[in-house]
Amino acid sequence: MKIFAYGIREDEQPSLKKWEAAHPDIEVGFTEYTLTADSARLAEGSNGVVTLQTSPYTREALEVLHQLGIKYISIRNVGFDNFKFQDLNDLGFTLTNVPVYSPNAIAEHTVILMGRLLRRVPEFDQKMDNGDFTWAPTIGKEYREQTVGVVGTGHIGRVVIKILQGFGAKVVAYDVFHNPDIKKQGLYVDTLEELYKQSDIITLHVPLFDSNKYMINDEAISQMKDGVYIINCARGELIDTDALIKGLDSGKVGGAGLDVLDDENSVFGKVWSSIDNIPNEKIRNLAKRLNVIVTPHSAFYTETAIHNMITTAFDSNKALIEGEKPDNIVDTNK
Ligand code: COI
Repeated sequence: MKIFAYGIREDEQPSLKKWEAAHPDIEVGFTEYTLTADSARLAEGSNGVVTLQTSPYTREALEVLHQLGIKYISIRNVGFDNFKFQDLNDLGFTLTNVPVYSPNAIAEHTVILMGRLLRRVPEFDQKMDNGDFTWAPTIGKEYREQTVGVVGTGHIGRVVIKILQGFGAKVVAYDVFHNPDIKKQGLYVDTLEELYKQSDIITLHVPLFDSNKYMINDEAISQMKDGVYIINCARGELIDTDALIKGLDSGKVGGAGLDVLDDENSVFGKVWSSIDNIPNEKIRNLAKRLNVIVTPHSAFYTETAIHNMITTAFDSNKALIEGEKPDNIVDTNK
């Protein structure tokens, strides 16, 4: 049996080597390249592929894998919004993801972004870089005075709620599926509008679907409290960037913590000589603001997460090749 992995980074290699050592009967090949129509040929002779990328999986790339007789694809991350299900179904692929590799990684990053906004850390950093070690006017706010609206109460949203409760924040939550524990605590509101109305901080923890693309738009922002903070560690396309910039310009939005952005692939994952040279005007606009914190889709990026992503993805791909049906098969018929 041979499994071929795409987009393998140096930080993944120790976990990859460990998995390989524990499975001496399985040949493992890998490349640093992501899965494209060109790199797909590298999987020749393999039974399945393991992959991770934020750019789209093109039909051309999948067609090459199909021609090579490969049927099983295991992504090392949660979100599969960069696949077209139609392509996977037409070409007969079975897909697995890693639904839970470390909700804490993303949840902690989320709450840190909130804390950095509440305590105006970017402004203090700038002041101190300029030798200004004074307090005023950089006065902060406390978590316990905040109502935080958590949109999405899956694995990540629930850890966010737990951490926030530890800080004494009031939490309201919205989800179409009601988690029994969150329900028991009485945290759910019935509509997004209600959550927007009540929240000082809004944080998104939902997958991206066609139906919720740009859910944070002009209309949604108009329903929010003045000075609201918006946090997004889920998917960039949940927020209409123009609407966010408009909200920040008017002061309706008081700040934002953004680990993901619409069209982030034009900027993230590369080194720019300065923020002024970022080739995306909207991301440049946001990243230059002291009340906006941009991080490069790095919320997930912890040692624990990386290890679990590699291990689960390879275990799943092996299981598929052996004819098993692991729990984490993605339903591509939805
Ligand atoms: C995910 O797990 O879906 C993420 O957003 C992490 C990233 C490495 C793609």
